[in-house]
Amino acid sequence: MWKHDKIEKNATILLVLSFLVVTVGGIVEIVPLFYLQNTVEKVDGMRPYTPLELAGRDIYVREGCYVCHSQMIRTMRDEVDRYGHYSLAAESMYDHPFQWGSKRTGPDLARVGGRYSDEWQRQHLIQPTSVVPESIMPTYPHIAESELRFEDIAAHLKTNSEVGVPYSDEMITHAKSDLVAQATGEGDVAGLESRYPKAQARDYDGDPSRITEMDALVAYLQMLGTLVDFTRYEPRTEANLR
Ligand code: HEC
Repeated sequence: MWKHDKIEKNATILLVLSFLVVTVGGIVEIVPLFYLQNTVEKVDGMRPYTPLELAGRDIYVREGCYVCHSQMIRTMRDEVDRYGHYSLAAESMYDHPFQWGSKRTGPDLARVGGRYSDEWQRQHLIQPTSVVPESIMPTYPHIAESELRFEDIAAHLKTNSEVGVPYSDEMITHAKSDLVAQATGEGDVAGLESRYPKAQARDYDGDPSRITEMDALVAYLQMLGTLVDFTRYEPRTEANLR
């Protein structure tokens, strides 16, 4: 065996060798990140957010929902049993920034879409204890009262496209009308669905006469985790890679 004590007793040798080790370790960890595009496995069903969902996501971020909620189901047995299929990297590939979160005061929301009715979601946001008596979640009644501001929604899509989200020119042109169609269920719903497969168009806030922040936030919550069809999803394994 090599005399390790020699290295440990000579500061210069120790420094030089430590530096080498850290450099090699660093390269191994950092270089693959430059090829991240190739490391996110493509998955059927993933599409960019509709304009209404994107607006709802902004409200989610603005209100700090991520402080108490994660959107990242780990591969652990208990998490998969409780929340559903573990999260895939591709599911947050269009998130800028991602909403994985780092703390769960409330449950993970990655697969909350479709778990409750719109009515439940509204009641819960306005007054959580009205549907979950023991809840400690804060109340958000202002979301139901505030008109949704979306004059700049096309610019918002365009900005996302500049950081790599595949919004086409057509999607950007139709951003406003797509938002209105999804929040009311009226107008060019077929166009919306052709641009954004599985988009659900309806009046989310229970008030057909206006488009509120509640429409956007509930639309966002109701789509979470619904895009990938996990009955047909096969994880990559050595066998099906060939
Ligand atoms: C202070 C922490 C906290 C914040 C902030 C918070 N929540 Fe919650 N949330 C909770 C807790 C605790 C629960 C579990 C009890 C309940 O259902 O109310 C919960 C439950 C939920 C549920 C039901 C999840 C399920 O699977 O049953 C949804 C949906 C939800 N929150 C959405 C939101 C949204 C949207 C926001 C931001 C507007 C938000 N929460 C902000 C703590 C929080």
